[in-house]
Amino acid sequence: MGINAIRGFNDILPGEVEKWQFFEEAARNLFESFGFSEVRVPILEKTELFVRGIGEATDIVEKEMFTFPDRHGEMMTLRPEGTAPVVRAFIEHSMHAADQVTKLYYTGPMFRYERPQKGRYRQFYQIGAEIFGVENPIADAEVLSMLTELFRRTGIKGAELQINSLGCKECRPLYKELLLDFLKTIADKLCPDCQRRLNHNPLRVLDCKNDGCSDATKDAPSIIDNLCERCNSHFKEVKANLDTLGTVYSINHRMVRGLDYYQKTTFEIVCTALGSQNAVAAGGRYDGLVKDLGGPETPGLGFAIGLERAVSLIELTGKSLLKRPALFIATVGEQARKWALKAKYELNLKGIWAEIDYEGKSIKSQMRRADKLGARFAVVIGDSEISSGSAILKNMVEHSDKEINLSSLTEKVSI
Ligand code: HAM
Repeated sequence: MGINAIRGFNDILPGEVEKWQFFEEAARNLFESFGFSEVRVPILEKTELFVRGIGEATDIVEKEMFTFPDRHGEMMTLRPEGTAPVVRAFIEHSMHAADQVTKLYYTGPMFRYERPQKGRYRQFYQIGAEIFGVENPIADAEVLSMLTELFRRTGIKGAELQINSLGCKECRPLYKELLLDFLKTIADKLCPDCQRRLNHNPLRVLDCKNDGCSDATKDAPSIIDNLCERCNSHFKEVKANLDTLGTVYSINHRMVRGLDYYQKTTFEIVCTALGSQNAVAAGGRYDGLVKDLGGPETPGLGFAIGLERAVSLIELTGKSLLKRPALFIATVGEQARKWALKAKYELNLKGIWAEIDYEGKSIKSQMRRADKLGARFAVVIGDSEISSGSAILKNMVEHSDKEINLSSLTEKVSI
């Protein structure tokens, strides 16, 4: 019996991977023009990093991590997200010393033991960006505007930016109490999960997808109305700066993030076309995290885009992005095949994709393959073409033929 991939772990095949490359390249180009540099951090980290970074009482840490002991019994975890590892690297390499502001981006697989469904996998990819060292709400607006620009550039329609503020260590606990008082009055209308959440994470009740719960909590107090003076003015400035940059957003005061490190600004890019897993990107400000993980007091802010979800929204088909050979060299006879091997090799070295027939198939079958690969040009080489030094170059797109000198092949196919 064959061996299949693990549940929730996917292969990304040619025909689909071109969309990934298209999106990744657009992201790299954009982020680098905003001054972000790539950082590559390990996939495996000490479990403690995520427990301290993401928070012990979060769903991710409580039940979604791939955690196991290494051969010496030390607990290791496959990273469920990129922020905690990037913060660890920022501290470990004293990156704050190089400049007051550090801008980093990363891409790669993340792992969460969630129930697989459309848009939710156990291995999934993120592209994320983090900026360290800026407390000013200018950074929030800049990062958010860069993120929305990426969706515009890649032709993704219906991606909507929603923002919220989760307050800080001062105002959030007071809001939590206020919310809890309200939730107690409607507790009997909540689903069993939310009744459990009441005590350890009441904010998550606002986020529940259950219709009964969203109905029952529609008059719940809003965090935005209960921010302290500092958080309130920060949020106002974020909105004003977004307006300055012409970035469209809406406010979603029920947005609660599943990671404990957020303070002040939080946001999501949602797209209804995605169905129930509708967040294609998410992030926020985490001003206390660098210090909590043992570094100097440094504000931070960032986001991560879910690549499976982003790529599923790209309207271009993988096929239209598929690379195609510039030339297919069909051959008759052994001498021609040797000639083609060398001609192909030289074209390939010049950066031109040329293909040949490897197995001495019939001309009909070779031309069928040229067609299937979508080659732009094809040429048939036999003994007479080699001795005359000329051949018929077929333009497979325009369906026209032209006699050419074989010495000008490179020039003729590299248009
Ligand atoms: P997150 O909201 O947990 O945030 O994940 C960000 C995005 O990753 C989600 O919006 C979604 O598109 C994608 N995603 C999450 N889980 C899955 C899954 N199981 N399958 C497929 N896609 C998924 C973070 O990870 C934070 N580190 C973001 C951040 C960066 N905050 C500040 N800086």
